Amino acid sequence: MWKSSYEEGFQSLKNEKFDACLLDFRLGANTGLELLHEMNKSGINCPTIFLTGHSDFDLDLQAMQVGAADYLIKDQINAPLLERSIRYSIKHALDMEELRQSKAQILQQDRLASLGLLASSLAHEIGTPMGIIRSRAELAERKSDNKDIKQDMQVVVTQIDRIAKLVNSLLHLARGSKSEHSADVNLNQVINDIVSLLEPEIKRKSVMLNLNIESPLIVKAESGPLAQVLLNLLVNSIHAIEDQNPAEPVIQMSADIKGTMARIQIKDNGCGISDENLNQIFKPFFTTKEIGRGSGLGLATSYKLVHSWGGHITVQSKPGEGSTFTIFLPKA
Ligand SMILES: Nc1ncnc2c1ncn2[C@@H]1O[C@H](COP(=O)(O)OP(=O)(O)OP(=O)(O)O)[C@@H](O)[C@H]1O
Ligand SMILES: [Mg+2]
Repeated sequence: MWKSSYEEGFQSLKNEKFDACLLDFRLGANTGLELLHEMNKSGINCPTIFLTGHSDFDLDLQAMQVGAADYLIKDQINAPLLERSIRYSIKHALDMEELRQSKAQILQQDRLASLGLLASSLAHEIGTPMGIIRSRAELAERKSDNKDIKQDMQVVVTQIDRIAKLVNSLLHLARGSKSEHSADVNLNQVINDIVSLLEPEIKRKSVMLNLNIESPLIVKAESGPLAQVLLNLLVNSIHAIEDQNPAEPVIQMSADIKGTMARIQIKDNGCGISDENLNQIFKPFFTTKEIGRGSGLGLATSYKLVHSWGGHITVQSKPGEGSTFTIFLPKA
């Protein structure tokens, strides 16, 4: 596409996507350098080749400093040179994008590393006072005959447990990638435990829970963290059902053996996940829930744990219809 003025050129660079752009220095009242500046300011990153004349000494250097990928002297341009320059510029842009992404990744890793440090000292520092508050609240609840006080104390205990869970999630998230603690875990037992823990909540919300669990199922994992992973999936499903409010709310949980792996599946007819969010849900702190209902650590932690046991986790979802999360774990 050919644009003959500064303004037209800038507008189409802003509105369309090009593989590369050839930019003349003299553009009416403005210059190509100004356009390059303008492109930088507006976040347009199209690989740009700057065209200069013989007398425009230094311009090429300035253009490169402002982000041009290459420059060509106008009366020396021939087909092979032009082809090489375009190819080089596109490659240069790809390299820059890769560099930008790996920088972002390093920043994220840094953030997680310092988060880990913070989490372990936090866990240590607040563990004791939290334990004291919890046991005093329990004591007060037992001692008191006042119904309101009893209820208030129960709230204190549940909220303390929630803090403890959050700190634990942070700790797991910060832990190394390969678990040295994985052992034979009775999956049937873990599923029984979490189902009896959640049953009252599930009944209260009139959700139908269908279980289809093969037995025996022994996997390589850690029982406490595995329970936490499955609990988060079930709680997520309950939340999704609350958001969608389907006529017949159903969660189906199944577990069986697939070759060398055990497969656990949790399927709900809740609100589902948009395509846009589907890429984000395993990232730390990604949540669509309001403060207090979710912290966005459940799936990030689960992902890390499941991989540390040599397994993997996948998701399928349709907005408005529901989601299915599948976990594969190595059979013991
Ligand atoms: N079954 C599901 N149906 C619909 N959306 C889901 C489901 N499971 C997860 N999500 C989406 O993925 C996001 C991240 O889930 P995740 O469990 O990591 O965090 P959370 O539930 O928001 O908070 P936390 O688990 O830390 O309390 C959720 O906020 C929600 O938007
Ligand atoms: Mg969750």
